[in-house]
Formats: sequence, C-alpha cells, structure tokens
Amino acid sequence: MRSLIDILDLSTEELRELIETAEDIIADPEKYAEVCRHKKLATLFFEPSTRTRLSFEAAMYELGGNVLSVSSANSSSAAKGESVADTAKTVSCYADIIAMRHPKEGAAFVAAANASIPVINAGDGGHLHPTQTLADLLTIWREKGRFTDLTIGLCGDLKFGRTVHSLISAMSRYEGNRFVLISPEELKVPSYVKSVLKEKNIPYEQTSDLMEVIGDLDILYMTRVQRERFFNEEDYLRLKDSYILTPDKMRSAREDLSVMHPLPRVNEISVAIDDDPRACYFKQVKNGKYMRMALILKLLYEAGTLKTLPERSRA
Ligand code: CP
Repeated sequence: MRSLIDILDLSTEELRELIETAEDIIADPEKYAEVCRHKKLATLFFEPSTRTRLSFEAAMYELGGNVLSVSSANSSSAAKGESVADTAKTVSCYADIIAMRHPKEGAAFVAAANASIPVINAGDGGHLHPTQTLADLLTIWREKGRFTDLTIGLCGDLKFGRTVHSLISAMSRYEGNRFVLISPEELKVPSYVKSVLKEKNIPYEQTSDLMEVIGDLDILYMTRVQRERFFNEEDYLRLKDSYILTPDKMRSAREDLSVMHPLPRVNEISVAIDDDPRACYFKQVKNGKYMRMALILKLLYEAGTLKTLPERSRA
C-alpha cells in the first residue's frame, strides 16, 4: 500500500505530475468536483493544526468526498493509551485514506505499517512534513518557474523545523541549488539533514546573521521558533525573537526575492510585509490545498480505490 511518509517517497517525476494535476485543478475545479464521491478521508491530528488539517479537509470536500476527523489527542482513545498501530488498524475499517499528525517522530511510519489504507504524514514531531513541502514546491514553481539554480535561505528554528528538513531533502534533488542556513547556534540544522548536503556535494553555508546574506537570496524561507519542542521556557524566551523580518530589512533584499513561511507566524515576519509583492506565505496556504487534492487522488488511484482519474488538460 503506497503511503507518503517522507517527501523522498515521491520521485521528481511524480512531483512534476502532482504539480501538473494541481495546476489542472486550479484551471478547472469543476472537473474534479465529484471524483471522490463516497470516499472518506480520516484526519487524525494528535497535535494542533490550522492549515494542514483544514486544507486536507477542504481538499477532500472539493473532490466530492467526506471527512472523519480527530482534531486532538484528548478527543480520541489515544488519551486512554491506545497505540498508533491499533488506531491505524481501526481507522482502516472506516476510511479510505488517513492524514495523520503526531508529536512523535516516526508515528506516521508506524501507522502506515499497520494500516490497510494509504497514510499521509501530516507532520511527525520535529522530523518531517512532506505535504507542507508539496505546498512549498508548487509555490516555488509558480513564483520562479524552476527548481534549479536557486539560492535558498532558510532562517530561524532549523533544528526543530520539520518543514525545513523536508524542503532541504526535496530541493537537494535538483541541479545548481545552494543553501544558506541562518539560525542561532542552538537551532542549527541537525547533522542527519546536513549529511545529505555533504554526500551530494551541494554547496551550503551556515550563519547567524540574516542581514549579511539577505541580498544574495532567491528564496527566504522564514520559520517560527518551535516553543512546543523546547525542554525549558528560558531557552525559548531567549531565542524566540532571534529574527524579525521588517520592511527596513527587506530594502536590502532583491526585487525578485520570494519570502516564504510555512505558518503559523508568531513574530518573525512583520505584518507590514504582507502587502509586499515578494511575500508568498499566504499563496503557500492556498497551494497546499491543491497539492493535497492532487496527492489524495494519486494515492487513492494507486490503492485501487479510485478506478479512473480525470484527464489532465495540460501536458
Ligand atoms: N504549516 C503548518 O503545518 O501549519 P499548521 O500547523 O497550522 O497545520
């Protein structure tokens, strides 16, 4: 059974196809409005979410399907000690596909190993968040028209920021990209992520000074300092405002910079930047729904749950 746990579970060819499907949905949503009629998505969210859960649910509704939802750990039998494996086996009896967010790294992998329906990792602890990367990739494609030869700055909490880990994995597969990793010492990218860059000889630099590098960047991917992953509040308070992007700082950036952020934002991008044409973070939110629609279709088709898919108009 095909699931999506890591963005690397999808080949670059499959990513291209998902983007083509998403573009086709954007161009002609009516064509897709009944494709998932009588099919059910279960959203199992054992950690808070606004965008990911609601965009998965909006995606399934816009495909004509239905949604079963667990919106917090406390409202499910996980609160009574049920294992992820048993939850996955149980939900397989009711639904056709699962999107799951869990605070434990590897939880989606365990669910997929025990479910008899496809499982989509909607974020596992500080590890991975592949469907945010799908949203990011469609945004990069629409803003830049390419995945190659980009200087990508990632700024903020690069240690716990699972969206950063998935995006580095994804963009490392394309030629000519260079990464600028901007973080305080304590929140540097974990070595298992950096080892991918080293193995592939992909150029990267690490710095704590955003202003030193902002003028070199094609993309600036800002992230929130993840309070929920800190062991003590004192460290969080010391680090939380390490980077605040303001209109004044944006004057040093290129005219064609794309400012991205997976959201939620706390304080790291001034709201005054929202009207700057370089701000792309609410476009990411919208793009996430279309890519999740494309992904649901792909996984349900491969599982044999959908017998046909609409023909794409675009090549
Ligand atoms: N980007 C993202 O995962 O947002 P939520 O936590 O609101 O789902």
